[in-house]
Amino acid sequence: MKHSSPASSVVSRSGRFASGPAADVAAFSESICFDWRLWRQDIRGSLAHAAMLQRIGVLTRKELEAIRKGFQSIEADIEAGRFQWNPALEDVHMNLESELTRRTPAGAKLHTGRSRNDQVALDIRLWLRDECAAVDRDLADLQKSLVEFGQRHPEVILPGYTHLQRGQPVYLAHHALAYVEMLSRDRERFSEASARANVCPLGSGALAGSTLPLDREFVAQELGFVDAKGRPRITQNSMDAVSDRDFLVEFCSAAALSAIHLSRLAEDLILWATSEFNFIRIADAYTTGSSLMPQKKNPDVAELTRGKTGRVVGNLMSLLTLLKGLPMTYNRDLQEDKERVFDTADTVRSCLRLMAGMIRNTSAKPEVCARASADPQLLATDLADHLVLQGVPFRQAHHLVGAVVALAETAGKPLDAITTEEFRSISTAFGDDIGRVFELRRAMAKRTSTGAPGTAGVRRQLAAWSRRLK
Ligand code: ARG
Repeated sequence: MKHSSPASSVVSRSGRFASGPAADVAAFSESICFDWRLWRQDIRGSLAHAAMLQRIGVLTRKELEAIRKGFQSIEADIEAGRFQWNPALEDVHMNLESELTRRTPAGAKLHTGRSRNDQVALDIRLWLRDECAAVDRDLADLQKSLVEFGQRHPEVILPGYTHLQRGQPVYLAHHALAYVEMLSRDRERFSEASARANVCPLGSGALAGSTLPLDREFVAQELGFVDAKGRPRITQNSMDAVSDRDFLVEFCSAAALSAIHLSRLAEDLILWATSEFNFIRIADAYTTGSSLMPQKKNPDVAELTRGKTGRVVGNLMSLLTLLKGLPMTYNRDLQEDKERVFDTADTVRSCLRLMAGMIRNTSAKPEVCARASADPQLLATDLADHLVLQGVPFRQAHHLVGAVVALAETAGKPLDAITTEEFRSISTAFGDDIGRVFELRRAMAKRTSTGAPGTAGVRRQLAAWSRRLK
Protein backbone atom coordinates (compact mmCIF):
# COMPACT_ATOMS: atom_id res chain seq x y z
CA MET A 1 0.00 0.00 0.00
CA LYS A 2 1.33 3.44 -0.91
CA HIS A 3 0.52 6.51 1.10
CA SER A 4 1.06 9.92 -0.35
CA SER A 5 0.90 11.61 3.03
CA PRO A 6 1.44 9.77 6.28
CA ALA A 7 -0.83 12.29 7.96
CA SER A 8 -3.83 11.11 6.02
CA SER A 9 -3.42 7.45 6.90
CA VAL A 10 -4.15 7.36 10.61
CA VAL A 11 -5.03 10.78 11.94
CA SER A 12 -8.18 10.70 13.97
CA ARG A 13 -9.75 13.42 11.87
CA SER A 14 -9.83 11.34 8.73
CA GLY A 15 -13.40 10.57 7.68
CA ARG A 16 -15.32 12.90 9.93
CA PHE A 17 -13.59 16.12 8.90
CA ALA A 18 -13.52 17.89 5.58
CA SER A 19 -10.31 19.72 6.40
CA GLY A 20 -7.37 19.50 8.73
CA PRO A 21 -7.00 21.93 11.62
CA ALA A 22 -6.05 25.54 10.88
CA ALA A 23 -2.29 26.02 10.96
CA ASP A 24 -2.34 27.96 14.22
CA VAL A 25 -4.64 25.37 15.81
CA ALA A 26 -2.24 22.62 14.81
CA ALA A 27 0.70 24.56 16.21
CA PHE A 28 -1.24 25.29 19.39
CA SER A 29 -2.24 21.72 20.02
CA GLU A 30 0.70 19.63 18.89
CA SER A 31 2.64 17.91 21.66
CA ILE A 32 5.29 16.14 19.62
CA CYS A 33 7.82 18.85 20.49
CA PHE A 34 7.89 17.47 24.03
CA ASP A 35 6.17 14.06 24.09
CA TRP A 36 8.52 12.55 21.48
CA ARG A 37 10.59 11.51 24.46
CA LEU A 38 7.95 8.92 25.32
CA TRP A 39 8.84 6.99 22.17
CA ARG A 40 10.45 4.03 23.94
CA GLN A 41 7.47 3.62 26.25
CA ASP A 42 5.04 4.06 23.36
CA ILE A 43 6.71 1.35 21.29
CA ARG A 44 6.96 -0.94 24.30
CA GLY A 45 3.26 -0.54 24.99
CA SER A 46 2.36 -1.03 21.34
CA LEU A 47 4.38 -4.24 21.13
CA ALA A 48 2.61 -5.68 24.16
CA HIS A 49 -0.75 -4.59 22.77
CA ALA A 50 0.06 -6.15 19.40
CA ALA A 51 1.13 -9.44 21.00
CA MET A 52 -2.20 -9.48 22.83
CA LEU A 53 -4.14 -8.72 19.61
CA GLN A 54 -2.46 -11.71 18.01
CA ARG A 55 -3.43 -13.93 20.96
CA ILE A 56 -7.09 -12.97 20.63
CA GLY A 57 -7.05 -13.45 16.87
CA VAL A 58 -7.16 -9.83 15.67
CA LEU A 59 -3.66 -10.06 14.20
CA THR A 60 -2.13 -13.01 12.38
CA ARG A 61 1.32 -14.20 13.35
CA LYS A 62 2.67 -12.68 10.16
CA GLU A 63 1.09 -9.34 10.92
CA LEU A 64 2.50 -9.36 14.43
CA GLU A 65 5.92 -10.16 13.00
CA ALA A 66 5.60 -7.31 10.51
CA ILE A 67 4.67 -4.92 13.32
CA ARG A 68 7.65 -6.04 15.39
CA LYS A 69 9.99 -5.60 12.43
CA GLY A 70 8.46 -2.22 11.65
CA PHE A 71 9.02 -0.97 15.17
CA GLN A 72 12.53 -2.37 15.18
CA SER A 73 13.44 -0.34 12.14
CA ILE A 74 11.70 2.75 13.52
CA GLU A 75 13.62 2.35 16.75
CA ALA A 76 16.89 2.14 14.84
CA ASP A 77 16.00 5.29 12.92
CA ILE A 78 15.12 7.22 16.07
CA GLU A 79 18.30 6.12 17.81
CA ALA A 80 20.35 7.14 14.79
CA GLY A 81 18.64 10.53 14.76
CA ARG A 82 17.14 9.82 11.33
CA PHE A 83 13.50 9.84 12.35
CA GLN A 84 11.47 12.85 11.25
CA TRP A 85 8.93 13.85 13.86
CA ASN A 86 6.00 15.46 12.16
CA PRO A 87 4.03 18.13 14.08
CA ALA A 88 1.11 17.65 11.68
CA LEU A 89 0.70 14.25 13.33
CA GLU A 90 0.23 15.95 16.67
CA ASP A 91 1.86 13.61 19.12
CA VAL A 92 4.23 10.71 19.64
CA HIS A 93 1.43 8.15 19.42
CA MET A 94 0.25 9.21 15.97
CA ASN A 95 3.76 9.79 14.68
CA LEU A 96 4.80 6.25 15.52
CA GLU A 97 1.59 4.59 14.41
CA SER A 98 1.54 6.49 11.17
CA GLU A 99 5.14 5.63 10.39
CA LEU A 100 4.55 1.99 11.29
CA THR A 101 1.58 1.87 8.93
CA ARG A 102 3.71 3.45 6.22
CA ARG A 103 6.19 0.60 6.70
CA THR A 104 3.66 -2.21 7.04
CA PRO A 105 -0.07 -2.33 6.32
CA ALA A 106 -0.51 -4.40 9.49
CA GLY A 107 0.10 -1.12 11.34
CA ALA A 108 -3.46 -0.13 10.52
CA LYS A 109 -4.71 -2.86 12.85
CA LEU A 110 -2.57 -1.82 15.81
CA HIS A 111 -4.99 0.70 17.27
CA THR A 112 -7.71 -1.94 17.68
CA GLY A 113 -9.42 -1.65 21.06
CA ARG A 114 -7.14 1.19 22.03
CA SER A 115 -7.43 4.96 22.30
CA ARG A 116 -4.73 7.53 22.69
CA ASN A 117 -6.37 8.17 26.04
CA ASP A 118 -5.40 4.83 27.54
CA GLN A 119 -2.25 4.80 25.43
CA VAL A 120 -0.91 8.04 26.90
CA ALA A 121 -1.94 6.93 30.39
CA LEU A 122 0.10 3.79 29.81
CA ASP A 123 3.13 5.56 28.37
CA ILE A 124 3.36 8.05 31.19
CA ARG A 125 3.08 5.29 33.80
CA LEU A 126 5.86 3.35 32.10
CA TRP A 127 7.92 6.52 31.94
CA LEU A 128 7.28 7.29 35.59
CA ARG A 129 8.36 3.80 36.64
CA ASP A 130 11.65 4.17 34.73
CA GLU A 131 12.19 7.68 36.02
CA CYS A 132 11.57 6.72 39.66
CA ALA A 133 14.23 4.04 39.32
CA ALA A 134 16.64 6.59 37.82
CA VAL A 135 15.91 9.20 40.50
CA ASP A 136 16.49 6.52 43.11
CA ARG A 137 19.94 5.84 41.69
CA ASP A 138 20.75 9.56 41.72
CA LEU A 139 19.48 9.94 45.28
CA ALA A 140 21.55 6.95 46.40
CA ASP A 141 24.63 8.43 44.77
CA LEU A 142 24.15 11.74 46.55
CA GLN A 143 23.74 9.82 49.80
CA LYS A 144 26.99 8.04 49.04
CA SER A 145 28.81 11.30 48.40
CA LEU A 146 27.61 12.61 51.77
CA VAL A 147 28.71 9.48 53.60
CA GLU A 148 32.12 9.71 51.91
CA PHE A 149 32.29 13.39 52.88
CA GLY A 150 31.75 12.34 56.52
CA GLN A 151 34.29 9.54 56.20
CA ARG A 152 36.90 11.91 54.79
CA HIS A 153 36.55 14.08 57.90
CA PRO A 154 35.86 11.64 60.76
CA GLU A 155 37.39 13.89 63.44
CA VAL A 156 35.97 17.22 62.36
CA ILE A 157 33.59 18.78 64.87
CA LEU A 158 31.40 21.80 64.12
CA PRO A 159 29.08 23.96 66.10
CA GLY A 160 25.54 22.73 65.57
CA TYR A 161 23.06 25.57 65.15
CA THR A 162 19.48 26.37 66.01
CA HIS A 163 18.10 29.76 64.92
CA LEU A 164 21.48 30.02 63.16
CA GLN A 165 22.98 30.63 66.61
CA ARG A 166 25.63 28.29 68.00
CA GLY A 167 24.01 25.51 70.01
CA GLN A 168 25.94 22.34 70.70
CA PRO A 169 28.89 20.59 69.05
CA VAL A 170 28.31 17.92 66.40
CA TYR A 171 30.53 15.89 64.14
CA LEU A 172 30.57 17.16 60.58
CA ALA A 173 29.68 13.58 59.64
CA HIS A 174 26.55 13.78 61.81
CA HIS A 175 25.48 16.92 59.95
CA ALA A 176 26.08 15.19 56.61
CA LEU A 177 24.21 12.09 57.75
CA ALA A 178 21.17 14.22 58.59
CA TYR A 179 20.82 14.75 54.84
CA VAL A 180 21.40 11.08 54.17
CA GLU A 181 18.36 10.36 56.35
CA MET A 182 16.21 12.93 54.50
CA LEU A 183 17.26 11.49 51.17
CA SER A 184 16.41 7.99 52.30
CA ARG A 185 12.84 9.10 53.04
CA ASP A 186 12.81 10.71 49.59
CA ARG A 187 13.78 7.36 48.12
CA GLU A 188 10.91 5.71 49.96
CA ARG A 189 8.49 8.29 48.60
CA PHE A 190 9.62 7.73 45.01
CA SER A 191 9.41 4.01 45.48
CA GLU A 192 5.88 4.28 46.86
CA ALA A 193 4.87 6.61 44.00
CA SER A 194 6.26 4.10 41.54
CA ALA A 195 4.47 1.19 43.21
CA ARG A 196 1.13 3.01 43.12
CA ALA A 197 1.59 3.90 39.45
CA ASN A 198 2.45 0.31 38.67
CA VAL A 199 -1.03 -0.61 37.43
CA CYS A 200 -1.80 -1.12 33.73
CA PRO A 201 -4.48 1.17 32.27
CA LEU A 202 -4.39 -0.25 28.73
CA GLY A 203 -7.73 -1.68 27.67
CA SER A 204 -9.65 1.24 29.15
CA GLY A 205 -10.08 2.62 25.63
CA ALA A 206 -11.20 6.21 25.23
CA LEU A 207 -13.16 6.01 28.48
CA ALA A 208 -15.38 2.94 28.36
CA GLY A 209 -13.24 -0.08 27.54
CA SER A 210 -13.94 -2.14 24.46
CA THR A 211 -16.42 -4.64 23.08
CA LEU A 212 -13.47 -6.77 21.95
CA PRO A 213 -12.24 -9.60 24.19
CA LEU A 214 -9.00 -7.84 25.14
CA ASP A 215 -6.68 -9.80 27.40
CA ARG A 216 -5.68 -7.02 29.76
CA GLU A 217 -3.90 -9.34 32.19
CA PHE A 218 -1.60 -10.52 29.43
CA VAL A 219 -0.64 -6.97 28.47
CA ALA A 220 -0.04 -6.07 32.12
CA GLN A 221 2.19 -9.08 32.55
CA GLU A 222 4.11 -8.31 29.37
CA LEU A 223 4.82 -4.80 30.62
CA GLY A 224 5.77 -5.77 34.15
CA PHE A 225 2.67 -4.37 35.81
CA VAL A 226 2.69 -7.10 38.42
CA ASP A 227 2.52 -7.40 42.20
CA ALA A 228 5.13 -9.00 44.44
CA LYS A 229 3.80 -12.43 43.55
CA GLY A 230 3.96 -11.74 39.83
CA ARG A 231 0.20 -11.36 39.43
CA PRO A 232 -0.94 -8.75 36.88
CA ARG A 233 -2.16 -5.43 38.21
CA ILE A 234 -4.74 -3.71 35.98
CA THR A 235 -6.91 -0.65 36.58
CA GLN A 236 -10.45 -1.50 37.66
CA ASN A 237 -12.38 1.45 36.26
CA SER A 238 -11.94 2.61 32.68
CA MET A 239 -13.07 6.17 33.39
CA ASP A 240 -10.70 6.57 36.30
CA ALA A 241 -7.89 5.01 34.30
CA VAL A 242 -7.95 7.53 31.44
CA SER A 243 -8.47 10.60 33.59
CA ASP A 244 -6.37 9.84 36.65
CA ARG A 245 -3.05 11.60 37.03
CA ASP A 246 -2.66 11.39 40.79
CA PHE A 247 0.40 9.21 40.34
CA LEU A 248 2.04 12.17 38.58
CA VAL A 249 1.09 14.46 41.45
CA GLU A 250 2.73 12.00 43.83
CA PHE A 251 5.84 11.95 41.69
CA CYS A 252 5.98 15.75 41.56
CA SER A 253 5.31 15.94 45.28
CA ALA A 254 8.12 13.51 46.11
CA ALA A 255 10.33 15.52 43.77
CA ALA A 256 9.34 18.80 45.40
CA LEU A 257 10.32 17.47 48.81
CA SER A 258 13.61 16.23 47.44
CA ALA A 259 14.23 19.63 45.92
CA ILE A 260 13.44 21.27 49.25
CA HIS A 261 15.96 18.97 50.94
CA LEU A 262 18.50 19.79 48.26
CA SER A 263 17.91 23.50 48.74
CA ARG A 264 18.63 23.18 52.45
CA LEU A 265 21.82 21.26 51.78
CA ALA A 266 22.74 23.89 49.21
CA GLU A 267 22.11 26.65 51.73
CA ASP A 268 24.33 25.00 54.35
CA LEU A 269 27.14 24.70 51.83
CA ILE A 270 26.69 28.30 50.70
CA LEU A 271 26.89 29.50 54.30
CA TRP A 272 29.87 27.32 55.09
CA ALA A 273 31.72 28.63 52.04
CA THR A 274 31.39 32.27 53.19
CA SER A 275 34.36 34.08 54.75
CA GLU A 276 32.20 34.40 57.85
CA PHE A 277 31.86 30.64 58.39
CA ASN A 278 34.74 29.46 56.22
CA PHE A 279 34.24 25.80 57.19
CA ILE A 280 34.68 24.34 53.69
CA ARG A 281 36.51 24.75 50.45
CA ILE A 282 34.58 23.97 47.27
CA ALA A 283 36.82 22.98 44.36
CA ASP A 284 37.21 25.64 41.66
CA ALA A 285 35.45 23.45 39.10
CA TYR A 286 32.21 23.76 41.06
CA THR A 287 32.36 27.52 41.50
CA THR A 288 32.47 30.58 39.27
CA GLY A 289 34.12 33.96 39.42
CA SER A 290 32.74 37.46 39.12
CA SER A 291 33.05 39.47 35.92
CA LEU A 292 33.85 42.52 38.01
CA MET A 293 35.28 41.54 41.39
CA PRO A 294 38.51 39.62 40.83
CA GLN A 295 38.61 38.01 44.28
CA LYS A 296 35.20 36.35 44.06
CA LYS A 297 34.57 32.61 44.13
CA ASN A 298 30.87 31.94 44.03
CA PRO A 299 29.09 28.68 44.92
CA ASP A 300 26.83 28.79 41.85
CA VAL A 301 26.04 25.08 41.73
CA ALA A 302 24.60 25.25 45.22
CA GLU A 303 22.80 28.51 44.47
CA LEU A 304 21.25 27.18 41.27
CA THR A 305 20.17 24.04 43.07
CA ARG A 306 18.50 26.19 45.71
CA GLY A 307 16.95 28.33 42.97
CA LYS A 308 15.70 25.46 40.85
CA THR A 309 13.65 24.25 43.82
CA GLY A 310 11.26 27.04 42.82
CA ARG A 311 10.40 25.45 39.51
CA VAL A 312 10.04 22.00 40.99
CA VAL A 313 7.59 23.27 43.61
CA GLY A 314 5.94 25.36 40.89
CA ASN A 315 5.50 22.29 38.70
CA LEU A 316 3.66 20.54 41.52
CA MET A 317 1.34 23.53 41.86
CA SER A 318 0.79 23.64 38.09
CA LEU A 319 -0.14 20.01 38.01
CA LEU A 320 -2.55 20.25 40.92
CA THR A 321 -4.16 23.32 39.39
CA LEU A 322 -4.37 21.58 36.02
CA LEU A 323 -6.37 18.72 37.53
CA LYS A 324 -8.67 20.83 39.65
CA GLY A 325 -12.29 20.75 38.54
CA LEU A 326 -11.72 18.68 35.38
CA PRO A 327 -14.92 16.89 34.41
CA MET A 328 -14.76 13.18 33.75
CA THR A 329 -13.01 11.76 31.84
CA TYR A 330 -10.12 12.57 29.51
CA ASN A 331 -9.77 16.24 28.63
CA ARG A 332 -7.12 17.73 26.44
CA ASP A 333 -5.98 19.79 29.41
CA LEU A 334 -4.18 16.64 30.50
CA GLN A 335 -1.67 17.08 27.70
CA GLU A 336 -0.25 19.90 29.82
CA ASP A 337 0.94 17.40 32.44
CA LYS A 338 3.95 16.22 30.49
CA GLU A 339 6.14 19.30 30.35
CA ARG A 340 5.64 19.74 34.08
CA VAL A 341 6.68 16.21 34.97
CA PHE A 342 9.50 16.07 32.43
CA ASP A 343 10.90 19.33 33.76
CA THR A 344 10.52 18.08 37.31
CA ALA A 345 12.44 14.89 36.61
CA ASP A 346 15.16 16.62 34.58
CA THR A 347 15.63 19.39 37.12
CA VAL A 348 15.76 17.20 40.20
CA ARG A 349 18.03 14.67 38.55
CA SER A 350 20.50 17.28 37.35
CA CYS A 351 20.53 18.92 40.80
CA LEU A 352 21.16 15.55 42.44
CA ARG A 353 24.03 14.75 40.11
CA LEU A 354 25.65 18.16 40.37
CA MET A 355 25.36 18.27 44.15
CA ALA A 356 26.95 14.82 44.45
CA GLY A 357 29.78 15.97 42.21
CA MET A 358 30.24 19.13 44.22
CA ILE A 359 30.30 17.31 47.55
CA ARG A 360 32.92 14.93 46.21
CA ASN A 361 34.96 18.04 45.40
CA THR A 362 34.47 19.80 48.71
CA SER A 363 36.65 19.50 51.77
CA ALA A 364 36.35 20.81 55.29
CA LYS A 365 38.94 23.16 56.76
CA PRO A 366 39.83 21.28 59.95
CA GLU A 367 41.60 24.21 61.68
CA VAL A 368 38.72 26.61 61.12
CA CYS A 369 36.18 24.02 62.27
CA ALA A 370 38.32 23.23 65.32
CA ARG A 371 38.47 26.91 66.25
CA ALA A 372 34.71 27.30 65.89
CA SER A 373 33.88 24.14 67.81
CA ALA A 374 36.31 25.09 70.60
CA ASP A 375 33.80 27.76 71.67
CA PRO A 376 33.14 26.66 75.28
CA GLN A 377 29.61 28.06 75.19
CA LEU A 378 28.72 25.07 73.02
CA LEU A 379 29.08 22.99 76.18
CA ALA A 380 26.86 25.13 78.41
CA THR A 381 24.22 22.41 78.26
CA ASP A 382 26.84 19.87 79.33
CA LEU A 383 27.45 22.04 82.39
CA ALA A 384 23.77 21.84 83.24
CA ASP A 385 23.85 18.07 82.73
CA HIS A 386 26.80 17.95 85.16
CA LEU A 387 24.61 19.62 87.80
CA VAL A 388 21.73 17.26 87.01
CA LEU A 389 24.04 14.36 87.82
CA GLN A 390 24.66 16.04 91.19
CA GLY A 391 20.91 15.90 91.80
CA VAL A 392 20.06 19.49 90.81
CA PRO A 393 16.65 19.74 89.05
CA PHE A 394 17.23 20.65 85.39
CA ARG A 395 15.27 23.90 85.52
CA GLN A 396 17.45 25.09 88.39
CA ALA A 397 20.62 23.82 86.69
CA HIS A 398 19.66 25.76 83.56
CA HIS A 399 19.27 28.89 85.69
CA LEU A 400 22.62 28.38 87.47
CA VAL A 401 24.53 27.86 84.23
CA GLY A 402 22.83 30.97 82.88
CA ALA A 403 24.33 32.83 85.85
CA VAL A 404 27.77 31.38 85.01
CA VAL A 405 27.42 32.59 81.41
CA ALA A 406 26.45 36.07 82.67
CA LEU A 407 29.45 36.06 85.04
CA ALA A 408 31.79 35.13 82.17
CA GLU A 409 30.31 37.86 80.03
CA THR A 410 30.75 40.51 82.74
CA ALA A 411 34.27 39.33 83.46
CA GLY A 412 34.98 39.41 79.74
CA LYS A 413 36.40 35.91 79.61
CA PRO A 414 35.43 32.64 77.99
CA LEU A 415 33.36 30.13 79.90
CA ASP A 416 36.22 27.68 80.26
CA ALA A 417 38.33 30.33 82.01
CA ILE A 418 35.91 30.52 84.93
CA THR A 419 37.67 29.26 88.05
CA THR A 420 36.34 26.52 90.31
CA GLU A 421 35.91 29.21 93.01
CA GLU A 422 33.80 31.34 90.68
CA PHE A 423 31.68 28.29 89.81
CA ARG A 424 31.32 27.54 93.51
CA SER A 425 30.26 31.13 94.22
CA ILE A 426 27.22 30.45 92.05
CA SER A 427 26.48 26.93 93.30
CA THR A 428 28.29 24.45 95.51
CA ALA A 429 26.83 21.72 93.37
CA PHE A 430 29.55 22.39 90.76
CA GLY A 431 32.11 19.66 91.49
CA ASP A 432 35.92 19.80 91.49
CA ASP A 433 36.10 18.20 88.07
CA ILE A 434 33.94 20.91 86.54
CA GLY A 435 36.76 22.03 84.22
CA ARG A 436 36.71 18.64 82.49
CA VAL A 437 33.26 19.41 81.10
CA PHE A 438 35.05 21.59 78.54
CA GLU A 439 37.12 18.72 77.16
CA LEU A 440 35.47 18.51 73.76
CA ARG A 441 36.50 14.96 72.79
CA ARG A 442 35.36 13.68 76.17
CA ALA A 443 32.09 15.55 75.76
CA MET A 444 31.55 13.98 72.33
CA ALA A 445 32.22 10.48 73.65
CA LYS A 446 29.53 11.01 76.28
CA ARG A 447 26.76 11.38 73.75
CA THR A 448 25.84 7.73 73.64
CA SER A 449 22.09 7.64 73.09
CA THR A 450 20.73 6.55 69.73
CA GLY A 451 20.64 9.38 67.22
CA ALA A 452 23.04 11.59 69.19
CA PRO A 453 26.27 12.86 67.62
CA GLY A 454 28.47 10.77 69.92
CA THR A 455 31.87 9.56 68.76
CA ALA A 456 30.96 5.88 68.67
CA GLY A 457 27.43 6.45 67.41
CA VAL A 458 28.49 8.58 64.45
CA ARG A 459 31.16 6.05 63.49
CA ARG A 460 28.55 3.30 63.63
CA GLN A 461 26.14 5.33 61.50
CA LEU A 462 28.80 6.07 58.91
CA ALA A 463 29.70 2.40 58.68
CA ALA A 464 26.07 1.29 58.51
CA TRP A 465 25.19 3.77 55.75
CA SER A 466 28.29 2.97 53.80
CA ARG A 467 27.35 -0.75 53.92
CA ARG A 468 23.75 0.00 52.94
CA LEU A 469 24.78 2.13 49.99
CA LYS A 470 27.28 -0.33 48.55
N1 ARG B 1 -1.21 14.14 23.24
C1 ARG B 1 -2.30 13.73 24.07
C2 ARG B 1 -1.99 13.94 25.53
O1 ARG B 1 -0.88 14.13 25.83
C3 ARG B 1 -2.60 12.29 23.83
C4 ARG B 1 -4.02 11.93 24.04
C5 ARG B 1 -4.86 12.66 23.04
N2 ARG B 1 -6.22 12.20 23.10
C6 ARG B 1 -7.18 12.86 22.49
N3 ARG B 1 -8.36 12.39 22.57
N4 ARG B 1 -6.94 13.95 21.81
O2 ARG B 1 -2.86 13.94 26.37
